[in-house]
Amino acid sequence: MGIAHEKLEKNIGLMAVLAAVAVSLGGLAEIVPLMFQAEAIQPLPGVKPYPALELAGRDVYVREGCYNCHSQMVRTLRFETERYGHYSLAGESVYDRPFQWGSKRTGPDLARVGGRYSDDWHRVHLINPRDVVPESNMPGFPWLEKAKLDGGTVQRHMLALKRLGDPYSDADIKGAPAAVKDKTELDALVAYLQGLGKNAPRGNQ
Ligand code: HEC
Repeated sequence: MGIAHEKLEKNIGLMAVLAAVAVSLGGLAEIVPLMFQAEAIQPLPGVKPYPALELAGRDVYVREGCYNCHSQMVRTLRFETERYGHYSLAGESVYDRPFQWGSKRTGPDLARVGGRYSDDWHRVHLINPRDVVPESNMPGFPWLEKAKLDGGTVQRHMLALKRLGDPYSDADIKGAPAAVKDKTELDALVAYLQGLGKNAPRGNQ
């Protein structure tokens, strides 16, 4: 032990400052490479920005707080992949702003729910879950069936996402109001749910 080291250990102020520097260097070494990796994440084949109706449904999902009870991330654990399918990959959620991974699971994970049930099952389930799953403690969302979508809102949302770099074409944006015309929030939410996991790798390994 040199004199310098002894001085350092006896000076609590200096020790605290240097300890903070050491910890931040460690933190930076872990965080900075991840930031660059995030830039480089490419969408998986088939993963595209949400079509108008699904995007509107995603907004309903966020507004109603479905994420308070449902995650959208299958972990890399055997019992998870056997139940839900292939574990989640970053390339599936490049167009999710904000992402819905979450960790709260009062209900099952929804990352792979698309195609598991019919549209009609979802409609009945969302209006009153107990009509199809008698023991369910999920709340019903009966008002979604009565609320019409607003084409202008969906269109402005798509424009904002385009500005952030999502590759929407002008035709996608122009066609948004027609795509959601006369559709309800329930239609949109079901379309969103049916699209979840559509482009995930197959199999459960
Ligand atoms: C208070 C917690 C809670 C909230 C909030 C909630 N859910 Fe659920 N959800 C559950 C539970 C518990 C289940 C399992 C029982 C069932 O199927 O109803 C479930 C099941 C589901 C299922 C069937 C999943 C499967 O694989 O069988 C879907 C789809 C679903 N919820 C969608 C939603 C959507 C969309 C919302 C928001 C509009 C929502 N949930 C809000 C608790 C919740």
